[in-house]
Parts: sequence; structure tokens; C-alpha cells
Amino acid sequence: MADPTPPTVTPDPVTLARIELTLLGIGPAIASVPVPQSLREHVTTGGELIVTDLEGAPVALLHDVAAPTTTDRADAAPAAAGEQPAGVVTIAGSVRALSHDDERPTGPYAALRRGPAEIRFGGWSAVVGHHPVDAHALAAAHERPLLVVVMDGPRHIPGPTGAQTTRAAVELRDRLRHEGRTVEVVTVPAPHYGDHRDAELAAHVAEAYGADLVRPDQRPDLTALRAGLDGAAALPEDDWPPESLRAWQRWLPPRPDRGLVLLFTGLSGSGKSTVARAVVDHLTESGERTITLLDGDLVRRHLSAGLGFSRADRDRNIERIGFVAAEIARHGGIAVCAPIAPFAATRDRMRQMAEAHGDFLLVHVATPVEECERRDRKGLYARARAGEIPEFTGVSSPYEAPTTADLVLDTTHTTIEEARDAVLHLLAAGRWVTS
Ligand code: ADX
Repeated sequence: MADPTPPTVTPDPVTLARIELTLLGIGPAIASVPVPQSLREHVTTGGELIVTDLEGAPVALLHDVAAPTTTDRADAAPAAAGEQPAGVVTIAGSVRALSHDDERPTGPYAALRRGPAEIRFGGWSAVVGHHPVDAHALAAAHERPLLVVVMDGPRHIPGPTGAQTTRAAVELRDRLRHEGRTVEVVTVPAPHYGDHRDAELAAHVAEAYGADLVRPDQRPDLTALRAGLDGAAALPEDDWPPESLRAWQRWLPPRPDRGLVLLFTGLSGSGKSTVARAVVDHLTESGERTITLLDGDLVRRHLSAGLGFSRADRDRNIERIGFVAAEIARHGGIAVCAPIAPFAATRDRMRQMAEAHGDFLLVHVATPVEECERRDRKGLYARARAGEIPEFTGVSSPYEAPTTADLVLDTTHTTIEEARDAVLHLLAAGRWVTS
């Protein structure tokens, strides 16, 4: 008998994309899902597990599940630096769709999410990838009907979103059809791993559509493209059809219009809030960019109200700041953030979120703890030394100094104006602002 109320799990985006790929008729019928330790005892061997999407809507049922296995972190999703190397519990089972048959997929270009069963024509050359529309792939596929498969899933390397890439593919399809070619565009959910699995998955997808995968010998140079988008070199226009190049340019517009997350990190009392505020004031006066200040103390009164100062709560706090800041960057704004952000792994996570949509700069306000403590404007160091405030950064909780800061400031002997100007210089030198 099936369990009447199977437990529910919301997997990581990569696992979810693999399961959705299976539901589309591509990929193994059995899926492995990493689950929280706490779920282990609620799943019975041979029983069921409901898989939901990130919004909590059920998408798949794992049935006939095998006994949970515990793998080393090294064999599963890579742990962020500093994360506890705890074992990951994985549950494997057969995948079955949970949504109703008449339920259409939603999201941008949902109509293009068509599995192999929905594609009638045969004899395709397929270009498959997260950025499939490059000139070399098109040239290599020029003789046969063309199937462009946009892999729309979490990306290992930042780049245009699935929707931006699909728009480019559709524009290109229309141009090529006008020239008399047979072209179809489909999107499939598929993660980008950044290793050999990408080629394997692309081959697998092409095979599922009965198409020959075209893998051009010459791969487009993403580093050169990035340099071109940054204005540091000419754009490699030979590598990218205009439709595709436009997608990249929309994703990463020229620096003066590009979103930016500026993270000030440093000890309490280091001066980071004061310098950040001075930078924000100046940019607000010049009016050339939209700008939002997410100061540490301010955030803790609103966005992160109720969180404490354990490592987990600090990480949560920085994640929230990082999420909001990345949204600001996605809209082309500048987010100036000034939390302590004492942990390198969490700062890296914030960088990752920002760089999905724009740029990220790290300013380390490296005023030594002795100077911060000498100032002790809020009297917190004295209270921390007296044991009244536990886990106080620099006293009883660690601060991992950045090794990759774009700018290091020490406000011991510099004025606020000098520190502010150093930051403004960094922004002007990189052309995020002109003044
Ligand atoms: S973070 O570690 O999560 O980045 P955040 O910048 O939000 O910290 O908050 C730091 C501010 O909270 C400090 O400026 C200080 O006023 C106050 N504070 C209260 N308790 C602590 C603590 N245990 N460690 C550090 N700051 C604390």
C-alpha cells in the first residue's frame, strides 16, 4: 500500500532540472534526490516521495524508492567552502509526473517546452546548449533542418537568462526561416555543470529528439566576449550571430548602465557604514545612477529582523542582502551593502548571486580591531569583553579577512572623504560612473 501522505522535498535547482527533463521524456526514469537528514526517517523503502518546484508546487512523484543512502560531500553537490562536510542523504526512485495532463507549463516561452514526442519532423541537426546560437554551430549545421535546443536551467557560468537566450534563438529562427531553412526551437530544463557532463547531456538530448548533435570544432571564446562586453576589447562579432550577441549585450549592458553590487565588509566600528553612506550621498547628488544602501544595522531592523549572530543567522542575513542586491543589479541599479559579512564563503555566495545579473566589487574596510575597539562608539566592544555579548566579531567570533578585495581601506589614518574618494575612483576607473 502506498503511503497516503508521502513526505515532500524541494530539491536544489540542479536536481529539479534533471527531474523535469525526465518528465519531458528525456533522461533516466530513475532520479536521485538529495534530501535533508530530517526526512530520512519519514521515507519508507518502496514508498513514495513528492518532489515540488521552488515555489512549492508538486511536480513529480518518486515511487518505489530505494533505501536512503548517505554519500560523502565529495561525491554529491560540492559544499561551499567552510561548510560542514556532513553526509548527504540521497533517495532514488522512479519518476512520475504529478501535474494534470491538461496543465500547460508556465513561464517565459512555455510554448517552446516541447519534448521529443511533440516534435514531428526528422533528420535534424541539433545545436544544444545553454548558449546554443553561435556562428560556428550554425555553420557546422548548415545543410540539414536545424533544431535549436536551449537548455534552460541553472547555469554554472553566468550569462543571459534562459528567456534572453530563447528570444535570440527565436529571432534567429525567424530570420533563417525567411531564408528558406527549416528551423525549430525548443527549450528543455537542463542544468549547466561546467564539466564533462554538459557534453554528455547535450548528446543525450539530441539523441532523444532523433537528431545528430552538431558540436563545432571551434568553440566561441567567452573570455573574449566578456572583455568585449566590458568595453576592454572589440566584441568577437564573428563568433556570434547578431541575435545572439544582442542577448549577451542585454544581459550585460555597458558599464554605465550595468547593475553593480558594491559590498563593504569589515569589523563593527571599522567605518564601513560611514564610508558607504558618503559614497551613496555623492552618487545620489550626481544623479546618474539609481542607488540603494543596504547598511548592516538598517537591514537588521527590517529585512533581517529577528536574526541573531550565530554563523547560521549571519549567513542568512548576508544571503538576504545578497538576494535583494542581485535584484537591484538585475534592474540596472547600484546596491551598496555594508554588513560585517565575516565569512568568505558567504561573501562568495553573494558575489555569485550578483554576477548572475551584473558586476560585484568588494571593498575591505580593514581598520584593525584595536582601532575599532578604541573608538567603540556603541560601547559594544566593552560589553563583548565583559562577556555580555556572545559571539562578537573580532572578540569572540571570527572575521575572515578577504583575499580578493578590489580595494582595501583603513580608516585609522584616513579621513572619510579620502576613503570615499578612493571608492569613487574605483567606480570611475571601471566606468560604472563618470564622476
Ligand atoms: S553580520 O555578521 O551579519 O554581517 P551585521 O553587519 O548584520 O553582521 O550586524 C552587525 C552589527 O550588529 C554591528 O555593527 C553591531 O552594531 C551589532 N551587533 C550586535 N551583536 C553583534 C555581534 N555578536 N557581533 C557583531 N555585531 C553585533
